[in-house]
Amino acid sequence: MSDTYGVVGHPVAHSWSPFIHGLFARETGQSMTYRLYDFTPEELEAQVRYFFEHGGRGLNITLPHKVAAVDLATELTTRAAHAGAVNTLAMQKDGTILGDNTDGAGLVRDLCDNLGLVIIRRRILIVGAGGAARGVLAPLLSLEPQEIVIANRTAERAENLAKAFQKVGPVQGVGIRYVSGGAFDLVINATSASLTNDLPPMTSSIIGPETVCYDMAYGKHDTPFVQWSLQNGCARAVQGWGMLVEQAAESFRVWRGMKPSTASVLTALKERALSA
Ligand code: ATR
Repeated sequence: MSDTYGVVGHPVAHSWSPFIHGLFARETGQSMTYRLYDFTPEELEAQVRYFFEHGGRGLNITLPHKVAAVDLATELTTRAAHAGAVNTLAMQKDGTILGDNTDGAGLVRDLCDNLGLVIIRRRILIVGAGGAARGVLAPLLSLEPQEIVIANRTAERAENLAKAFQKVGPVQGVGIRYVSGGAFDLVINATSASLTNDLPPMTSSIIGPETVCYDMAYGKHDTPFVQWSLQNGCARAVQGWGMLVEQAAESFRVWRGMKPSTASVLTALKERALSA
């Protein structure tokens, strides 16, 4: 019998994870099934326990459950503890459930391996101070940037998030309209604005001709952030398709002990998603 995995969200019907993990399983010859599970916040705990008690091997967790999933794990990896959120649950040999977060690793792998960017000694701006920003801060700081500035519509949230990571590396938090210091090497949109087709109120001075702009969101068409970045003369503006595939590959590695190759999966995903 094949091992059972899946993704839990609410809603979740739009998820590309079954497509991605299906390709990973085929490529690596793993016998596994991967399903969609739409659980409401009220159902989450009981349904996830049922899944694992009935032979389930692992789950991805997506919106809106990533923070609640922390309490479903027996123990957390360091990166999940830093993120304060879980996107991967894995049944371990001793019957306990490991909570992990592969989002930051996925972003870093897309930036460094797929896009060939250098982070060390570079200036990075993260727009947004919610869960998405929190999840990528420690992995980015571990690459020793010159500084990370967190800019948020609600300044206090950016300041508090920066304070929480002060010991990890050079990070400061500011209101989005008060970003200074000229163009950044890398600007990452970690707000949820793209999901509603909105643009965070950024000043164009953050962009220069060398700036790479990265939207953690993705869609069939350029997101408002990607459009705005290109209009303001950035070197390159990228949507988060690569992060999506890389975080999935890292979850697959946690579950199956092997890392699938991602390039062909990313190509297939974009072809499928952009023609859908
Ligand atoms: P997530 O887990 O996706 O990060 P979240 O914790 O609700 O979700 O955080 C959403 C982030 O997107 C916040 O930084 C939010 O800014 P505020 O803290 O000021 O609310 C930001 N955001 C959402 N919509 C936005 C918009 N239209 N313009 C600017 N920022 C926006």
